[in-house]
Amino acid sequence: MANILGIGNATLDIINTVDGYPAENDEVRSISQRIVRGGNVANTLVVLSQLGHDCTWGGVCVNDLFGQQIIADLDSYAINIDYCKLESQGSVPTSYVTLNKRNGSRTIVHHRNLPEYNFTDFKTIDITDFDWIHFEGRNIIEIAKMLARVREKYPNILTSLEVEKPRINIDSLFSQVDFLLFSKFFAKNYIPTDDAALFLQNIRKLSANNLICAWGADGAYALDTAENILYSNAYPPSQIIDTLGAGDTFNAGIIDSLCKQQDLAIALEHGCKIASKKCGQIGFKGLQII
Ligand code: FRU
Repeated sequence: MANILGIGNATLDIINTVDGYPAENDEVRSISQRIVRGGNVANTLVVLSQLGHDCTWGGVCVNDLFGQQIIADLDSYAINIDYCKLESQGSVPTSYVTLNKRNGSRTIVHHRNLPEYNFTDFKTIDITDFDWIHFEGRNIIEIAKMLARVREKYPNILTSLEVEKPRINIDSLFSQVDFLLFSKFFAKNYIPTDDAALFLQNIRKLSANNLICAWGADGAYALDTAENILYSNAYPPSQIIDTLGAGDTFNAGIIDSLCKQQDLAIALEHGCKIASKKCGQIGFKGLQII
């Protein structure tokens, strides 16, 4: 099993499940509420840890009750939190999530009032023994420095970058990582197309590395370094219950396969299967049994 470091967010998710998405200015009651730990990299690590990998989180948290809940959750999944930077000011990044029971859609209003994990924090991590470092595509200037350090001093460590949201200059990182993990949302913002392969071919102009893109209910695509377009269909569960973190779970499936030396076509299929399983259940527990 691999030794994996994830750099990015852990959040507090306040999830209200509703029976149908409300109209603007409506007042509705939730069917239920859960207050849980979330965050893209944290979700990915929680899945990877259940798949048997040794996981470490590098990110920022707050030393208050919510922050302690987040840390305790990561700890319960045996994720190493030694390199978490604890702030005494600010608040934990918080997502107010409206989960529609009828179709599993999740609408997120996110509030952030906390500094990002930076290069100085990253340098405190002894990365010698990691096999893989996965970055959440945020805080671009700092991540560029982290990636430069990895490439210069530890060229054998494999790297991946989650590209979920359009951010200024995020494309400057594309040539710097071994595996790029794009969201459909990013792709559709980048070029207005329903053709994932066309999107990946456009990105090829910026990076010669492995390009992967989840395409929701239509599966996932990749463009490997030998210029093959790969595809896996989705494996829809009998009922879509909760799509929150499906992309993060897909990314974990990809990283899991690649850490096991499986090829990219197998990884795509594995990512789709585990993401689909996630959509058929609440939260992330038990995803290792597909
Ligand atoms: C799901 C998620 C949530 C979090 C939000 C942050 O992908 O990581 O857990 O609140 O996205 O954007």
